[in-house]
Amino acid sequence: MDRLVGMLRAAGDPTRLRLLLLLRQAELTVSELIEIIGQSQPRVSRHLKLLCGAGLIERFKEGSWVFYRATEEGEAAALSQALEALLPGPPEADLKRLATVREKRAAEAAAYFKENAAEWGHIRSLYAPEREVETAILRQLQGEPIQQLLDAGTGTGRMLELLAPSVRRAVGVDVSPEMLAIARDKLMRGGFAHCQVRLADSYRLPFDSGNGETGFDVVLFHQVLHYLDDPAAAVVEAARVMRQGGRLLIADFVQHDLEFLRTDYAHRRLGFSDKEVLGWFQAAGLKLSASEAIAPPAEAKDKLIVKLWLGRSEAKAQQGKAA
Ligand SMILES: C[S@@+](CC[C@H](N)C(=O)[O-])C[C@H]1O[C@@H](n2cnc3c(N)ncnc32)[C@H](O)[C@@H]1O
Repeated sequence: MDRLVGMLRAAGDPTRLRLLLLLRQAELTVSELIEIIGQSQPRVSRHLKLLCGAGLIERFKEGSWVFYRATEEGEAAALSQALEALLPGPPEADLKRLATVREKRAAEAAAYFKENAAEWGHIRSLYAPEREVETAILRQLQGEPIQQLLDAGTGTGRMLELLAPSVRRAVGVDVSPEMLAIARDKLMRGGFAHCQVRLADSYRLPFDSGNGETGFDVVLFHQVLHYLDDPAAAVVEAARVMRQGGRLLIADFVQHDLEFLRTDYAHRRLGFSDKEVLGWFQAAGLKLSASEAIAPPAEAKDKLIVKLWLGRSEAKAQQGKAA
């Protein structure tokens, strides 16, 4: 009861209600909120503090930036959803200024993407068209509902965009704020409010350990593990946050000898063998349930084979056997 009264008090102010409605639409920084709301920094910060204190919004740090978003679970989410339903949405002027903020972000993200696009394009030309890889990913994951997805090393958020229609909630983590800026923009434009991104390291995921029914039911590493010096540790960490019976999908290169990927493109590992991946799975308590290789285009000079390895936590495998 006290908690609910606290939340109602926090929301019971026109500016705070505007802030809450905006943060239900997008993750925004204080300076973006100042631009939209048109009030001074101390006032906006004070309102945000009150909303955070009541649990209606969450604050999270990404490098030197601090983002805010509406709380997405529990009573706080139910209350802000109910308030939103009682109103026609944020004031028209707020929505207009939110659109301007989004356009500015998109322009910045596009500039970064353009700078790196040539490099990414070259690597992409060495392996199967991404469309084929993505179709294979969807095929491997189909057939079971996905409540919570974690895209580890989400980069520009392409996997979140691909899987958004098939998941209830998704979060992508990455160590690069620039990549996350692109991902955030992509998710906002696509209207994928149920997908978020966070600055975090795959070796130390900011999530509780999974158990019985809680935790991620799918964790994905798409073209990430070859950048890591200890992929086995990242797999163990991913398994930690999965629920029992959860699935881990790795999409990466099969062992190759294209040394220039190491020298020119910061790949630490030149692909992986089945044996190595199976070793990680074993160490993480996962059992291989499927694998699939996707051949490179016939005309590619230096060829890279993409492979999908799907693991499932042993607990589910054992339950399956017993049933
Ligand atoms: C080639 S990109 C792949 C991005 C994305 N998975 C995709 O398929 O579009 C690799 C990403 O891994 C991220 N990364 C590298 N090391 C990481 C780590 N330890 N934790 C989280 N992300 C990491 C990089 O910042 C980069 O965005």
